[in-house]
Amino acid sequence: MKHVLLIVVALGALSTGCVGAESDKPPIVGIRNMYNQPRYDTQEKKPFFADHRSMRPEIEGTVSREMEASLTWATGRAADDSYMLEVPPNLIAMNGGTEAFLDRGKDRYNIYCSPCHSYSGNGKGMVSRRADQLGAAGLVAPTLHDDRLRHIPDGQIFATVTNGVRNMPSYAHNLPMADRWAVVLYVRALQLSQAPQAAATTETEPTR
Ligand code: HEC
Repeated sequence: MKHVLLIVVALGALSTGCVGAESDKPPIVGIRNMYNQPRYDTQEKKPFFADHRSMRPEIEGTVSREMEASLTWATGRAADDSYMLEVPPNLIAMNGGTEAFLDRGKDRYNIYCSPCHSYSGNGKGMVSRRADQLGAAGLVAPTLHDDRLRHIPDGQIFATVTNGVRNMPSYAHNLPMADRWAVVLYVRALQLSQAPQAAATTETEPTR
């Protein structure tokens, strides 16, 4: 008799389903209080604090670890909101000096920019050529050697890579802040290399 009872219980247990089987019933949990813990949800209103906000405001002066230490370095803009004219020299120094930083920029540029702008920066990368073939003119990357782009401030190229511009996406997820500046430095080197004549004239021009 005992055995029959055991078998019945065992069958009953089996018929309630197995781990991994789909069920619309709530799971059977041994120690429930490990699952249902009292907590406040994001943005939830709760009476615990005087202002009833479950999310607490930052303590004054807090600097989040994810925040870039320098706002100008992170945005490419100076304190007066104008674009920074050049790659921050301290950042270059912190990253091993001009040659090392340029090397890094070249490496990143060749990975992240050349598919559209091409290795030389003439805008004839594979993606652009394909876009051209398909008649998607808006997706063709421009040459980086035109007069306007040779003369925009370094900070504006940085902001372009950081935020994207019109049909060009942002590269801030792929490239951390220092890498984006390194790419800017390399774009400048590319521009100089492709337009030695024009660059020489601008270099020697009296300041306007
Ligand atoms: C997926 C293709 C693609 C990639 C990759 C890409 N770009 Fe672009 N880029 C474009 C397109 C398209 C435009 C033109 C955007 C427009 O005007 O609609 C553009 C425009 C630009 C401009 C000109 C912005 C202006 O003021 O007109 C610069 C500078 C530039 N890209 C730099 C870069 C750099 C540096 C990288 C690498 C981090 C990069 N791009 C990666 C497609 C790309």
